[in-house]
Amino acid sequence: MADQSVQIHGKNFVPYLSETEIKEKIKEMATIISRDYADKKPLFIAILNGAFMFASDLFKELTIEAEISFIKLASYSGTKSTGKVLTAIGLDADINGRHVVIIEDIVDTGKTLSSFLPQLEHQGPASIKLAALLTKPEAKTHPIDINYLCFSIPNKFVVGYGLDYDGLGRNLKEIYQLG
Ligand code: IMP
Repeated sequence: MADQSVQIHGKNFVPYLSETEIKEKIKEMATIISRDYADKKPLFIAILNGAFMFASDLFKELTIEAEISFIKLASYSGTKSTGKVLTAIGLDADINGRHVVIIEDIVDTGKTLSSFLPQLEHQGPASIKLAALLTKPEAKTHPIDINYLCFSIPNKFVVGYGLDYDGLGRNLKEIYQLG
C-alpha cells in the first residue's frame, strides 16, 4: 500500500484500497461470474470512462467465453416531464436475447443506473446483472440491485484505479479517499 497521500486540484487524498486488495477482490468476482455464466456467453457492457481499468482487469480474469463492449452515458435535456434523459453512446451490440452484465466503477446515489437500466431492459435481453467495483450505501437515493460487488465504502469521495476528480487521478494504481 502506498503510504503517500496525493494532491489533486489542491485537495489531499489518502491511500484507501491497495492494488493487491483490489486485484484480489476482482479475481474472486471473476471466479463467481465465470461459474454463474458458464455456457451463457455473456455480453459485458462497461460504462466509460470510470470503469475502464476495472473492466479490463475483471475481463482478463474470466475463464469463460464472453464478449465485451464499451459505452458512454450522456445526459441531455428531455421534455419538461422527462427532465434529464440518459442515452448510451456506442452500444453497437444487439442485446436481444443476450445475458448482459453491466460493469460500473461506482454506484453512488444510484441515479445514473436507475435511469439507464430500464432502457436496456426494453431491448429484450435474456437477463441483466450489475457488477460494480464500489458502492457508497449511505449515498444511495435510488434503489439499485448490485449483483456482484467488490467493496462497500463510506460516503467519501474517492479517486484512482479509473476514477477521477475533475479529470485527474484515473492513472493511480490504488484507490485514494478524500482526506
Ligand atoms: P450515481 O448516479 O450517483 O450513482 O453516480 C455514478 C457516477 O458518479 C459514477 O459512475 C462515477 O463516475 C461518479 N462518482 C460517484 N462517486 C464518485 C467518487 O467518489 N469518485 C469518483 N467518481 C464518482
